[in-house]
Amino acid sequence: MLSYRHGFHAGNHADVLKHAVCVHVGRYLTRKDAPLLFLDTHAGAGLYDLGTPEAEKTGEYRAGIGRLMPRAPNVPDLLRDYLELVHAANGDGMLRTYPGSPSLIMSLMRPQDRAVFHELHPADAARLAALAHGRRRVHVDRSDGLRGLNDQLPPPERRALCLIDPSYEIKTDYTLVAAAVARAWKKFPGGIYLWWYPVIDRSRVLAMEAAIRAAGIRKTYKVELCMSPDTPERGMTGSGLFIVNPPFTLPDAAQAALPWLAETLGADGPVTAGWLLPE
Ligand SMILES: C[S@@+](CC[C@H](N)C(=O)[O-])C[C@H]1O[C@@H](n2cnc3c(N)ncnc32)[C@H](O)[C@@H]1O
Repeated sequence: MLSYRHGFHAGNHADVLKHAVCVHVGRYLTRKDAPLLFLDTHAGAGLYDLGTPEAEKTGEYRAGIGRLMPRAPNVPDLLRDYLELVHAANGDGMLRTYPGSPSLIMSLMRPQDRAVFHELHPADAARLAALAHGRRRVHVDRSDGLRGLNDQLPPPERRALCLIDPSYEIKTDYTLVAAAVARAWKKFPGGIYLWWYPVIDRSRVLAMEAAIRAAGIRKTYKVELCMSPDTPERGMTGSGLFIVNPPFTLPDAAQAALPWLAETLGADGPVTAGWLLPE
């Protein structure tokens, strides 16, 4: 049932886009002293060894983070903090390890913040629990992340950054996720939601956009980076994120970074940064 393992894909172009945006938004939110909940609904294993057979089998990280690391620190603002955290995860600067969203989030957390990581796959959940072991105010939950999103909002902190990053293994995931985000937003309209999607079949992306409009989720920004043009063939050509309630810094940072990122990664598909629904 759960056949997706993020270890095959860690550090690819989709991770680069998602994690750069996540770190940018998280850094902005942690400027204010008030406590923050980080809720990662589909957390994965947390940290990836790029020398494993899984990572080497696809080699996806080479065409993603592998192309960015040599360019640091001369990178657009959107990528700077993210690349610093990837460097920090690789003491001597050689790219051997890739930090997944829980690692990046734990690096951003201050003592007053809290994190909840949902992960259903038993092996990845065990690795994540080991990584988070001994961390204060970090909880690894081996239950369904979409249910967690519903159950934990609104949080006592009254501030939350929610990363919704499913593997979309089953076609119905698209509609389930859209419904879960709409429900969460209705319960907690002030939350910041980072909702990742793959571009495999453009009609599914359009359906998610229609669901956002139908639910009336205002203030939704969209960034998308595709490595190749849309195609009816199988396979992921790119990915994007819907960001609900982004910090005011995100649009300028994303617009400045995307053309650079597209060139550096050799992308020649659609590249978008703009409001889906403004305020
Ligand atoms: C794309 S990966 C997550 C990557 C991670 N967020 C990161 O950026 O490093 C999706 C993960 O969701 C897990 N998963 C699948 N269905 C789930 C569910 N209903 N609830 C929680 N986790 C789930 C999968 O096992 C997989 O590890």
